[in-house]
Amino acid sequence: MQASDTQLTLGLFSMATAARIHPIAIPEALPQGVSAFPQLRYMGSKHRLLPWIHSALQGLSFRSALDLFSGSGCVAYLLKRMGKEVVANDFLEFTHLISKATVENSTACLTPQDLDLLTHPNRTRRKFVERTFSGVFFDPESLRFLDNLWANLGELSSDYKRALALAAAFRACVKKQPRGVFTVTGNPLRYDDGRRDLHMPLRDLFLESAAAYNAVVFDNGCVNRATRLDAFEVDPAGFDLVYMDPPYVPRADDNCYVKRYHFLEGLASYWQAPGTEILVDTASRKIAKRFTPFSYRKTAADAFSRIFKQFRKSTLVLSYSSNGYPDLEVLVHLMRQHKSTVTVHERPHRYHFGTHDKVAKDRASVREYLIIGS
Ligand SMILES: C[S@@+](CC[C@H](N)C(=O)[O-])C[C@H]1O[C@@H](n2cnc3c(N)ncnc32)[C@H](O)[C@@H]1O
Repeated sequence: MQASDTQLTLGLFSMATAARIHPIAIPEALPQGVSAFPQLRYMGSKHRLLPWIHSALQGLSFRSALDLFSGSGCVAYLLKRMGKEVVANDFLEFTHLISKATVENSTACLTPQDLDLLTHPNRTRRKFVERTFSGVFFDPESLRFLDNLWANLGELSSDYKRALALAAAFRACVKKQPRGVFTVTGNPLRYDDGRRDLHMPLRDLFLESAAAYNAVVFDNGCVNRATRLDAFEVDPAGFDLVYMDPPYVPRADDNCYVKRYHFLEGLASYWQAPGTEILVDTASRKIAKRFTPFSYRKTAADAFSRIFKQFRKSTLVLSYSSNGYPDLEVLVHLMRQHKSTVTVHERPHRYHFGTHDKVAKDRASVREYLIIGS
């Protein structure tokens, strides 16, 4: 496959005066095993852009890498497959667990016996999910399945196996949920678009996802880690390269990850962790949003400026899109405060994400950028 990639190098020139280098065709191929990484239908996921990101990263010299906003974990996993020593960081617990299962974990898999342990009926199960979410999400059998799964999780022999089991449960829930987001409540069949997953028992989707996550566990010979920190709390020392894919300030609506995925964030701790208390008056039984300065017009530019400064000793790679704020020119300017050479790769992209109406579809059609500072 050939990429429709355009590359701009911004050394001594400002964005306005920079000469546009001719579009170059970069061969896009992925390291073995990357395309098997389970897709999560996560807002802003770079899964479909991995060949393009890989071709840009391949041209850079680095041994250790940080994926600072790891989300579904697919970019961190690409870096792991490239043989790098990887840290995957995200401030949400459920995304952290996915990276723990796939990036940090090198050996543990869920065996058939583990899956039996997890799915056998457990009479001591609590009924929190069934009681709290009946009539809100899923059917009663699916809700009971999740209560049961949590009751059995403690029987697994390691944290990595538990992380794998929860990763599989998150993916099963996203697959079964209309549009893959937990803002949609009530009878799921109102949103029936014929998708097979809407009609599959959650248990079967879980077993499928467990097999999919099992299949990507491997050892790249490095000690890789998953952390769960606010980006500004991550110690910048020791990373040759930092990949950043923060949330974008949307032109309309909002892009809050907790609003869309609160059910998974709660499920990650069975609603036991601080910050996962249910807001009782909400139709979708939400939990509180988590503030991030990248999501607001007033604070985004300053957040980029601070994060570039924090990681200035590393090669910086920022994913950005034309529907975000601030504009590309501003981001390049901010990165140039700390980096002598800034290169921009650009290509068209369409995000598939809960977009049914035409306006939303148009908004999802964007220019995708990789801004690289070295
Ligand atoms: C655009 S998504 C990343 C998508 C990811 N690259 C992928 O391909 O799936 C942005 C992520 O940043 C995380 N995030 C937002 N603000 C953060 C912060 N201040 N510190 C750490 N993570 C943050 C969100 O939880 C979300 O998972």
